[in-house]
Amino acid sequence: MRAPHGPLALEDVRIDDPGPGEVLVKVAASGICHSDLHVIEGSLPVPPPCILGHEPAGIVAALGAGVTDLAVGDHVIGCLTAWCGVCKLCTEGRPHLCLSQFEGRANGARPRLAGADGTPIRQFANLSSFAEMMLCPARSLVRIRPDMPLDRASLIGCGVTTGLGAVLNTVRVPAGASVVVIGCGGVGLAAVQGARLVGAGRIIAIDAQPWKFPLARSLGATDCIDPKAGDPMAAVLELTGGGADFVFECIGLVPTVQQAVAMTGRGGTTVLVGIVPVTEMVPISAADVTLQEKRIVGSYMGSNRFRFDMPKYVEFYLDGRLRLDEMISARIQLEQVNEAFDRMRKGEVARQVIVFE
Ligand SMILES: NC(=O)c1ccc[n+]([C@@H]2O[C@H](COP(=O)([O-])OP(=O)(O)OC[C@H]3O[C@@H](n4cnc5c(N)ncnc54)[C@H](O)[C@@H]3O)[C@@H](O)[C@H]2O)c1
Ligand SMILES: [Zn+2]
Ligand SMILES: [Zn+2]
Repeated sequence: MRAPHGPLALEDVRIDDPGPGEVLVKVAASGICHSDLHVIEGSLPVPPPCILGHEPAGIVAALGAGVTDLAVGDHVIGCLTAWCGVCKLCTEGRPHLCLSQFEGRANGARPRLAGADGTPIRQFANLSSFAEMMLCPARSLVRIRPDMPLDRASLIGCGVTTGLGAVLNTVRVPAGASVVVIGCGGVGLAAVQGARLVGAGRIIAIDAQPWKFPLARSLGATDCIDPKAGDPMAAVLELTGGGADFVFECIGLVPTVQQAVAMTGRGGTTVLVGIVPVTEMVPISAADVTLQEKRIVGSYMGSNRFRFDMPKYVEFYLDGRLRLDEMISARIQLEQVNEAFDRMRKGEVARQVIVFE
C-alpha cells in the first residue's frame, strides 16, 4: 500500500534474515479480511508504505536465534495477536490483549521489510501476508497438523478465530440461547458456525445480500433476514419473543451497531465484533441499556489464546464440525488482490483466499 485509497502495488521488496525470536515463513495462502480493506480506506489508520494481509498459513523456512518451539518445515498459521508472555494481560490469561503486541523490532534495528532502495516498509500486525514470504515473531505463529490443507487453514488466522471465538470465548454462548449475527462475511459466518457448535437455539443471520442465505443456512442459521425486505428489528423481536439473548454485530457500521443493541433482549448481550471506523461514534440509548440490563461487550480477535484455539479449530475442520470449504468463494493469485477488494466492497463474496504456488 503506497497510498491510502489507491490500488495496492505489486513490488519486489527486501525481507531481512530472521533475528532473535523471529521466523521466516513461506506463505502458502492468505485470506482477505475486511480489516485489510479498512486500512486501505482509512477506517483503521496505518500509514503507508505498508504491506497488508493478516490471515496467513504457510511453512516455516528459517529460524532466528533462540526459536526452539518451531522447526523448519512446520506448517503454521499466523495470527496478529502476538503475545509477550510477561505483561499484565498475558500473565492474567488474556494474551490477545498483550500490551506489546505491535512493538516490532527494537528502535534503530534494521527493518524487517524494505523497498528495493532500502527504505523501510511498515509491516502490518507483525505479518504482512500479501507476499510470498513473511518474517514474523515466533509468537505470531502456531504449528498445526501437516494434513490440514493450508488454504483452508489460512481462514483460521483471522476471520474464523474472530467469529468462533466471539461465541466460544468472549461470551461463551450457552446451549439453547437465541443468537443474531448481523453480517455474513467471513467473520459473521464463523460466528454462525460457533453458535451451531455450542448448540444455540435460534440462529438468525442478517445480511443485505440475500444470495448469502443458503450458505448461512448450510452453516447453521435457522432463519435469515434481508434488512431491505422489511424492518429487521421487528423480525428479530418476533422470532425471539422480544429480543435475542446474544447479538453479534459483524459488519462495523453505526446503524447496525444501534440495531444490534436494539435487537438484544432484556438481560441479553450485544457483542461488537465489526470494526466501526475509528473516527465515528455510536449514539445508543443508555437508559435502555440500564433499565433492561443489557450488556455491550467488545470482542477482539475472538478473545483468543491462539496456540490453544487454532489447533482445536483445525480438529473441528478435520472432524467435519467446522465447514471451511463452503466459506471460500474464490482462490486467487496475488496479482488479483485489487479486484478481490472490489468484490468485497460489493458484497459479492464470503471469503477470498490468495494462494501461492
Ligand atoms: N473484532 C475483531 O477482532 C475483528 C477481526 C476481524 C475482522 N473484524 C471486522 O469484522 C467486520 C467483518 O469482517 P469480514 O471480513 O467478515 O467482512 P465482509 O466484508 O466479508 O462481510 C461483511 C458483510 O456485511 C454485509 N453488509 C454490509 N453492509 C450491510 C448492511 N448495511 N446491512 C446488512 N449487511 C451488510 C455484507 O454483505 C457482508 O456479507 C469488519 O469490520 C472487520 O474489520 C473484526
Ligand atoms: Zn482480519
Ligand atoms: Zn504481553
